[in-house]
Amino acid sequence: MSKYVLVTGCAGFIGFHLCRKLIEEEYKVIGIDNINSYYDKKLKKKRLEILSQINLNTKNWKFLKIDLVDKDSLLEIFQKYKPQTVINLAAQAGVRYSIKNPTAYINSNILGFYNILECCKIFKVKNLLYASSSSVYGGNTKIPFSENDSVNHPISIYAATKKSNELMAHSYSHLYGFACTGIRFFTVYGPWGRPDMAPMIFADAIINKKTLKIFNYGNMSRSFTFIDDVIEILISLINKPAVPDENFDSRNPNSATSWCSHRIFNIGNDNSVGLLTFVNMLEEELGLEAIKDFVSLQRGDVVNTISDNTNINKWIGTYPKTSLKKGIKIFIKWYKDYYN
Ligand SMILES: NC(=O)c1ccc[n+]([C@@H]2O[C@H](COP(=O)([O-])OP(=O)(O)OC[C@H]3O[C@@H](n4cnc5c(N)ncnc54)[C@H](O)[C@@H]3O)[C@@H](O)[C@H]2O)c1
Repeated sequence: MSKYVLVTGCAGFIGFHLCRKLIEEEYKVIGIDNINSYYDKKLKKKRLEILSQINLNTKNWKFLKIDLVDKDSLLEIFQKYKPQTVINLAAQAGVRYSIKNPTAYINSNILGFYNILECCKIFKVKNLLYASSSSVYGGNTKIPFSENDSVNHPISIYAATKKSNELMAHSYSHLYGFACTGIRFFTVYGPWGRPDMAPMIFADAIINKKTLKIFNYGNMSRSFTFIDDVIEILISLINKPAVPDENFDSRNPNSATSWCSHRIFNIGNDNSVGLLTFVNMLEEELGLEAIKDFVSLQRGDVVNTISDNTNINKWIGTYPKTSLKKGIKIFIKWYKDYYN
């Protein structure tokens, strides 16, 4: 049986950390990415360089520059390596950009994900993990956000594509019997993070004395989730494919559990923090004060995200717990080193 694990989006923030851990733990890893220019390509290339350096010792890593939309190339890769486990992290990310350029989301997140599902079907992949997002909770006001809540009201095209992925995965799992696990990530941060997300934007603004826009006049909160916690949970999920839930409650149409091998889990810190508290913590760590401009809410933005971790805790016995204080310390240390 093939021992290959295939990770899409390997030059991205989460994909890079996952591949690094998998290579170190001696999995055989195939990484694919189209290295698009949504944000600084240098950061993506640097991440890939690090993966190649680890590989000098392990020889367990292969990178292929491929777009998920290119089905023929994907089929060749699946044919050649026959991965038993696939982790789909490649996507057009970002809520705000989805208002400007929805086409990128339809291509990568809908067509690209469909191609992954087809390859999993044809090559009888045993376990598919795929990235969803806390943004599927849209305008929900019941907190914390639970996988059992209705998520039928996305407020951005990005969220709509992620919810669509969950529906597509469910039908493929039901029709073709392979295990699928969807992961609703909550604001992941840490070293090698994404320049389009709040932690990087804020750190850059504070250090370089740029004006920092505080949306919704600061009345927002996030379950900031440290990258190491995310990776630990992803590795556990790789080793524990979804199975049908014998206690499945058919009266609850939103149930996170399922009669087929498809499950959806939140991965988010259990402590949601206000935007201004977050900025204050960055200021303290950097020893600098932010220049703040208080502005209204942006279209598409969710106001508060808080993760209910009951289901992931029940399934693998843990959930993201790293304190924001500790995580910010590690993140800022990396940020200063990387950007000199
Ligand atoms: N980081 C977070 O807080 C967060 C939160 C919710 C959901 N997610 C989801 O988790 C996944 C990983 O997020 P990330 O933060 O690492 O994002 P990222 O943008 O850093 O990584 C995604 C990678 O996928 C690649 N990619 C995009 N479209 C592609 C395509 N069509 N073909 C091949 N490669 C393609 C990009 O070049 C990029 O390197 C994404 O699906 C994202 O939507 C992330």
